[in-house]
Amino acid sequence: MIRKLELSDVSHVVAVHLSSFPGFFLSFLGPKFLKLFYSGICAAPEGIAFVYLNDDGVPAGFVAGTTNPGGFYTRLLKRDWFKFALASIVPVLKKPAVIGRVARAVSHPSGNPMGDDVAGLFSIGVLPVLQGTGAGKMLVQTFLAEARLRGCARVFLTTDRDGNEYVNSFYEKLGFEIKRQYVTPEGRRMNEYWVATDSFASDKRTY
Ligand SMILES: CC(C)(COP(=O)(O)OP(=O)(O)OC[C@H]1O[C@@H](n2cnc3c(N)ncnc32)[C@H](O)[C@@H]1OP(=O)(O)O)[C@@H](O)C(=O)NCCC(=O)NCCS
Repeated sequence: MIRKLELSDVSHVVAVHLSSFPGFFLSFLGPKFLKLFYSGICAAPEGIAFVYLNDDGVPAGFVAGTTNPGGFYTRLLKRDWFKFALASIVPVLKKPAVIGRVARAVSHPSGNPMGDDVAGLFSIGVLPVLQGTGAGKMLVQTFLAEARLRGCARVFLTTDRDGNEYVNSFYEKLGFEIKRQYVTPEGRRMNEYWVATDSFASDKRTY
């Protein structure tokens, strides 16, 4: 039911992202931007990404991140800056006020942690119709197992503090602990979570 993300899955992952993150900034940037983002993670040697398949074998959930998350966005942008710039034109024209935020999104100066012993879980989503059925939990556990196999002792992620009780309790149930709280330049209050990959019982692949 869970397997590694392949490039041919990316359009499904984009569709799941758009339906599980309505109103979020990356969704506003649109399918072209998201396709570049998820293809970049899929193709990168440091990428860790899996899809959850529904009964018809179609991706209905995903999790995506990388080892050594510090500088990943910069590396991705260096390689594909022109494509990201092209993909951002329409959303920026629609709402010119977002240009500063687009620049920050692609340059991502917030300073993800560096090091081969750390992995960042950047994005996870499950189609609304399957939420609450255990898919998200399996995706996180698979991500942690793979991070561990790649030599990462710890995994970090960030999520909104406000209006996001379900997601926060979802991560806490999976053993993540808040290590830092901060406010983004847009005023979003964020929780930064960490978990040790050895707190996850199995060191075997779950896919
Ligand atoms: C967050 C998300 C990935 C979780 O995936 P999911 O498949 O819904 O979660 P699961 O079904 O695996 O549930 C895991 C746990 O949460 C519990 N849970 C499920 N639905 C719940 C709900 N509505 N309220 C509270 N707890 C709930 C489950 O009972 C389970 O707990 P258990 O292990 O004690 O039984 C998914 O809801 C989603 O895509 N949300 C929108 C996108 C998003 O916000 N992503 C995270 C951004 S950081």
